[in-house]
Amino acid sequence: MSEPYDLVIRNGTVATAADVFQCDIAIREGRIVVLEGSAGQGKQEIDATGKLVLPGGIDSHCHIEQKSSAGVVCADDFYSATVSAAFGGTTTVIPFAAQHRGQSLRQVVRDYHAAAEPKAVIDYAFHLIVSDPSEQVLGQELPALIKDGYTSFKVYMTYDMLKVSDHQMLDILALARREGAFVMIHAENHDMIKWLTERLGEKGLGRPLFHAVAHARIAEGEATNRAIALGELLDAPMLLVHVSAPEATAVIRQAQTRGLKVFAETCPQYVMLTADDLDREGMEGAKYCCSPPPRDSAGQAAIWQGLANGTFQVFSSDHAPYRFDATGKLPKGDKTTFKEVANGVPGLETRLPILFSEGVCKGRIALNQFVALGATNHAKLYGLYPRKGTIAVGADADIAIWDPERRVKITASMLHDDAGYTPYEGRELTGWPITVISRGRVIVDRGRLSAERGSGKFLKCATPDAAKPQGRMVPEIATVGRFSDKPLF
Ligand code: URP
Ligand code: ZN
Ligand code: ZN
Repeated sequence: MSEPYDLVIRNGTVATAADVFQCDIAIREGRIVVLEGSAGQGKQEIDATGKLVLPGGIDSHCHIEQKSSAGVVCADDFYSATVSAAFGGTTTVIPFAAQHRGQSLRQVVRDYHAAAEPKAVIDYAFHLIVSDPSEQVLGQELPALIKDGYTSFKVYMTYDMLKVSDHQMLDILALARREGAFVMIHAENHDMIKWLTERLGEKGLGRPLFHAVAHARIAEGEATNRAIALGELLDAPMLLVHVSAPEATAVIRQAQTRGLKVFAETCPQYVMLTADDLDREGMEGAKYCCSPPPRDSAGQAAIWQGLANGTFQVFSSDHAPYRFDATGKLPKGDKTTFKEVANGVPGLETRLPILFSEGVCKGRIALNQFVALGATNHAKLYGLYPRKGTIAVGADADIAIWDPERRVKITASMLHDDAGYTPYEGRELTGWPITVISRGRVIVDRGRLSAERGSGKFLKCATPDAAKPQGRMVPEIATVGRFSDKPLF
């Protein structure tokens, strides 16, 4: 008789991004080793009858222990953030190692590792935020970091202390194309926002609601269009993060229809919240301030359409938790204007339950799409597939067992992050992950955590296929080859 497996999950309905099937899953040394109708014995067994057995979620956009350019630190550290993620069915996070101007990216990466290693309970990789593309950063640090497994970086088109110019963006896109990395873009037109903010300020209109006025939909649409043009000029693939507006969604769809490698992400706040939430009593609206802001119900419908028709490949939380006090959202108490409110909402734990309940249960997306949007596509886009993001022989045994009928009313007190509030207070959802497994270890089971601090591991990312250029140079650049034997960039 052969040695029993470490863990066997029996009788569940297994779903991947492609299939739904009934089978047992056997796990040994942290990996899936057998998928079959009736697997042999396990030292530990879980009966998943009536449950959905899904790949653990991957959240590829979250801010953890990140300091904003204004010096405000996110409410969660790597422990509370990853515990919260685990309770919501997520087994891998990809937060940012964020460079502020003047900093060495290499040192920034070391600092984030030092923060994550002793605390994370699930596996993690890092994207880089590049705010200072100096010669040193472009010429040495980034190429070396890409080789070391940091193959994606985010650039901002707005925020005074983070934004890069179009010229700098071209440098970054050219480097990504050459070195095998993937660029994520925060697309909002800086000058439109700045100009509107100044005009609103002159009229004394500083309440949180006016954040949604200043960050106009057209500002997102314009910057998205410009970013795509910059990428097209250089034949450089890209991903637009946290897309909220119908205008931006339409521009992305058009680019995809033209065959460009343009990918896109959206987030729970853009299907669950509207600008009316920013207009709540007193300073309450500050809890809902994020950039870009939530739009209106027609905007929500456009985002759902984009999730259903494949315009969006990934659904991420953009978890950016700030406490509702002077240490976070409200540096000047109830005198804080929208310009001073720390931007971002918490959402690591509620991301997948929201997509399941509002998407799958309400018939807007299929179960396979849920798996793709919540896990598989993140792994594919950021170079972690097939180790992460699927249920397959040889993959890490990162699994979430869902009770598809469980009704849950969301309250801040049931969640495990440190934000102290949830934008979804009182919302009722159907479906919740009840058992969560990371590399074969049961880390959450029926409301109990059993993961050790620091048991999460760092993941190096490969160059994703998505980052590979298409070989579709714009004609005038393609013809340069006739005049020079050296590439133009
Ligand atoms: O408002 C947001 N989304 N804050 C987090 C930072 C970012 O731009 O993603
Ligand atoms: Zn952003
Ligand atoms: Zn973000």
